Amino acid sequence: MANVIVVGAQFGDEGKAKVTDLLSRNADVVVRYQGGSNAGHTVVVNGDTYKFHLIPSGILYPGTLCILGPGMVIDPKAFITELAALKKRGLDDSQLKVSATAHVTMPYHLAIDAAEEEARGDKKIGTTKRGIGPTYADKCDRTGIRIEDLLDPEAFRAKLEWLVPKKNIILERLYNLPPQDVETIYREYIEYGKQMAGYVADTSAIIFNSVQERKNILFEGAQGTLLDLDHGSYPFVTSSSPSAGGACVGAGVGPTIIDRVIGVSKAYQTRVGEGPFPTEQFGEVGEKLRQTGTPWAEVGVTTGRPRRCGWLDLVLGRYAVRINGLDCLAVTKLDVLDEFDEIKVCVRYKDRRTGQVYENLPSMAGAFWRMEPVYESFPGWRQPTSDCRSYSDLPAPAQRYLNFISEQLDVPVAIVSVGPKRDQTVVVEDPIHGPKRVLTVHHHK
Ligand code: GDP
Ligand code: IMO
Ligand code: MG
Repeated sequence: MANVIVVGAQFGDEGKAKVTDLLSRNADVVVRYQGGSNAGHTVVVNGDTYKFHLIPSGILYPGTLCILGPGMVIDPKAFITELAALKKRGLDDSQLKVSATAHVTMPYHLAIDAAEEEARGDKKIGTTKRGIGPTYADKCDRTGIRIEDLLDPEAFRAKLEWLVPKKNIILERLYNLPPQDVETIYREYIEYGKQMAGYVADTSAIIFNSVQERKNILFEGAQGTLLDLDHGSYPFVTSSSPSAGGACVGAGVGPTIIDRVIGVSKAYQTRVGEGPFPTEQFGEVGEKLRQTGTPWAEVGVTTGRPRRCGWLDLVLGRYAVRINGLDCLAVTKLDVLDEFDEIKVCVRYKDRRTGQVYENLPSMAGAFWRMEPVYESFPGWRQPTSDCRSYSDLPAPAQRYLNFISEQLDVPVAIVSVGPKRDQTVVVEDPIHGPKRVLTVHHHK
């Protein structure tokens, strides 16, 4: 038995789904614990590509229990569309469960997300416009609609009658948008409720039973540590807790049941949307990173926006190790670096204003904007890695690069991904049953 959290160690899109998919082979339960349809998780199996937004990628394994946890925000229309497409491709939904207490993304959340972004002008966050922020805002405001409400027509209507007029004041007066209609929303969403009813459950209880039956549970993170509402580059973050701690809150389990936390990081760095990105590359290097990620360029799965690209940032890597208590790393997309003569990696920051040098982020607040990366340079390997299946298959310069990452972050690199397909993977050490990370004494500089 092992209960494992797979978490994004960067700004999202690290290849979490590929790693989750690999580990799901031995999982009995796969749980999404936060976020909503802003996520875009790609898995390639036998040449078929699957793109998940709300549904845990574990659904690819028949018989695996797949749970949309209470910490998620669910757009029912997006859920039904995604599920229908997966069922059409022959996937089995008999083991799919949706938390009764997950929050529902409503039409006014979508409208407000888009309008708010527009109103921010050049201060926009660059959200996916999936209504994520406004849905979580209502949850915190205790005015949210939960999945269980869609199954209770009377209570749902009463909530809408109270809420929609308030939302219409925002839509009409603040954003000059048309009002929304209680009756139309009611009819549409009660119908969604009927279609979802068979999946709705007390998922925390199901997970607890699985724990007691010594099942293997995998917690599939969405987004990444640096998009975490509390620990990311606020305000350029998502509105949930993607980091490891969020898995316990979002799934409804205690931290004592977690055995391992695996961080997923690209061998370089990308970001979609606005916000600080110290190692971002604008010229030839950025373009080459963007175009190389074969067979797809670095383009957002959910929004189709080009991803901003840059060199790996080990200062942020150290931060991700700290925030998540990472046991090990899965380093993905090593193959994207195959054609580079020189590979740079940020090892320290220099404060542009004071000249002070940092190995660890001094603050995730304002100071982050002033940080200038200090790089170390590595010779490239200039040969394909996509066919490597063991560590010794990897070219020596690639091994040196990975060893450096592991040394600098003080965690083992347990998995190296060299292509999008399941088998394009090098397992360096067992990420789940290997020795637990040895904590060493650090002097934070
Ligand atoms: P996630 O959101 O963290 O699950 O990642 P995404 O699916 O948004 O983005 C990762 C992209 O990289 C997807 O298109 C994957 O198929 C692809 N991918 C994953 N691992 C590798 C790898 O090792 N090499 C290459 N070239 N592509 C990869
Ligand atoms: P996966 O799970 C990368 C980014 C958006 C924006 C910010 C806030 O595929 O890694 P939101 O719509 O959540 O309010 O947008 O977060 N963002 C992601 N970036 N991968 C994701 O998901 C993301 N989900 C949100 O681009 O900068
Ligand atoms: Mg993604």
